[in-house]
Amino acid sequence: APNIPVSAVQADLAQLQSIATANGGNRAHGRPGHLASVNWIKSKLDAAGYTTRVQSFTSNGATGYNLIAEWPAGDANNVVMVGGHLDSVTAGPGINDNGTGSASILEVALAVRSSGFQPGKRLRFAWWGAEELGLVGSTYYVNSLSTTDRSRIRAYLNFDMTGSPNPGYFVYSASGQPSGSLQLQQTLQAYFTSIGVPTELTSVGGRSDHAAFARSGIPVGGTFTGAEGIKTSAQAQKWGGTAGQAFDRCYHRSCDTSGNVNATALDRNADAIAHAVWALGA
Ligand code: PHE
Ligand code: ZN
Ligand code: ZN
Ligand code: ZN
Repeated sequence: APNIPVSAVQADLAQLQSIATANGGNRAHGRPGHLASVNWIKSKLDAAGYTTRVQSFTSNGATGYNLIAEWPAGDANNVVMVGGHLDSVTAGPGINDNGTGSASILEVALAVRSSGFQPGKRLRFAWWGAEELGLVGSTYYVNSLSTTDRSRIRAYLNFDMTGSPNPGYFVYSASGQPSGSLQLQQTLQAYFTSIGVPTELTSVGGRSDHAAFARSGIPVGGTFTGAEGIKTSAQAQKWGGTAGQAFDRCYHRSCDTSGNVNATALDRNADAIAHAVWALGA
């Protein structure tokens, strides 16, 4: 898999920050900053040759949007899906939650094109709406699939908060939720092992967009660098950072801005996503 340049991911985060700043300070469901984020990511994918689709739905009296992009090659009966939510809370711009996952997935998708990778499987990338209202967009998408289309999805990988400022390196536990996949867990763990970074397993349960996929029996996995949880001294010893402080002290706050991102965690997770897409999409 190619190295994903963290500078490219950071440039995307700066763009998402600008979009929020120009739209009342957030990128929340039903607010103009969310649709502007969708349109900006869509334009980059269209220019790279992706087949894109915006799926609309209604939640809380407002229209929401999922952006779906498929690479037009590989076996359409064997789909590997990668996603994260593009909406923020209303309190702030949502740069770590979840500009980080969104921008990293985008750069991996663009690397599929620029590297000349010829995947055997069909690669599908998704940027969900209204996660912050209760996983609304991803649930709508899964429920909208026919039984046949659902059965074609061999794996769903979720990335929500991958650059926390006081980071942990968490991999979704295969046993921590329905449809947890040992293969997906181990594929992600293997990347961190290869760069000498210890990981912990975490039971994310129903806290992000993999949940609807898991409920319908699709194997799920993902990574996470921590939210409101407090880093222990054992964790600070192995990962660095500050014990006794939250992984992300700006979680769901107005201070979740471009400054609220750890570049090393952002880079390692973007490269882990690329590793998994190349391994699983082969
Ligand atoms: N989904 C949560 C949010 O957006 C954050 C989270 C991600 C929590 C992954 C646990 C695991 O607020
Ligand atoms: Zn990198
Ligand atoms: Zn959130
Ligand atoms: Zn989130």
